[in-house]
Amino acid sequence: MGDKKVIFSGMQPSGALTLGNYLGALKNWVKLQDEYDCYYCVVDMHAITVPKEPKDLRRNTLEVLANYIASGIDPEKSTLFIQSHVSAHAELGWVLNSLSYYGELSRMTQFKDKSKRLDSNSIPAGLFVYPTLMVADILLYQADLVPVGEDQRQHLELTRDLAARFNNRFSETFKVPDAYISSEGAKIMSLQDPQSKMSKSDSNENAYILLVDSHDAIRRKFKRAVTDSMGVVSYNDEQPGVKNLINIYSKISGKTSETIVSEYEGKGYAQFKDDVAEVVFGELKPIQEKINYLLKNKDYLEKIYLLGAEKAEYVARKTLRKVYKKIGFIPR
Ligand code: TYM
Repeated sequence: MGDKKVIFSGMQPSGALTLGNYLGALKNWVKLQDEYDCYYCVVDMHAITVPKEPKDLRRNTLEVLANYIASGIDPEKSTLFIQSHVSAHAELGWVLNSLSYYGELSRMTQFKDKSKRLDSNSIPAGLFVYPTLMVADILLYQADLVPVGEDQRQHLELTRDLAARFNNRFSETFKVPDAYISSEGAKIMSLQDPQSKMSKSDSNENAYILLVDSHDAIRRKFKRAVTDSMGVVSYNDEQPGVKNLINIYSKISGKTSETIVSEYEGKGYAQFKDDVAEVVFGELKPIQEKINYLLKNKDYLEKIYLLGAEKAEYVARKTLRKVYKKIGFIPR
């Protein structure tokens, strides 16, 4: 374990996970487990930056953990834990709030997008400092790589900036991590508007596929997916809807976009959409069965997250102790 490079990543339990979360991040996490020392976190503290019903948060947190395991994250290989169980995240987050600037946090596009939807008097301060908590998540484990989707790239750049800033000011302390963003699947787009990303907070449920969607729902949503009037399955930016469907198909089947395009030469969108739906459901079916099984076995999930918190805490405390010492806090 000790010599392996370190991976950290997390997902918000803000609702059920989407095909975007799965293809952009989770599917890559599974592949990285053998080669790296991986920490995969359910970031519940991030999820409260927008108002959330306590009972939904509790349910979603366990569901996300079940989704991780059902998708192939092996608790024997990777450390799985819940963010709020390791208080070092909040503590380093505070230190980093004092190291980051109002200007740079104002430029974060995720903050701009989310705050735009709210009245200016009701934008939680937590939403503004959300990225510094994410930076803390990553730096506590001295992560080398952070597997995420394209939408998190800017937060990863901030992570690198703050790590370097701390190292410059207080001497070498943090590893400066790299983002790991794979080419296909890095940005799965909405099925209703292929110019915007697939998101679980979309008001139109036809825009996203949830990992727990039924076979019928998946078929229906792909049938309704917005394409274009060209009628040719081809991979280019003028046909963003079709391109998105090809990306989904490709990421799951492992076939290249060229192969897929040649398979559908002379065939219409209807057949293609049906086939994409079947490929997606084929991938999700065994995952759904495992999710259902795990959610009936809460004791098992509890064992996993308690053990994970212990392992994570040990590593995180070690980094935090160093940080506190360097910034001049008196050791207790
Ligand atoms: P979150 O919870 O929004 O998304 C979890 C992961 O899924 C990826 N993703 C997508 N990838 C491709 N296409 C999409 N349509 C799509 N939608 C989401 C995201 O890029 C992400 O990798 N801030 C993070 C959570 C976080 C985190 C961290 C991540 C907190 N601390 C530390 C990595 C490291 C977020 O909101 O992800």
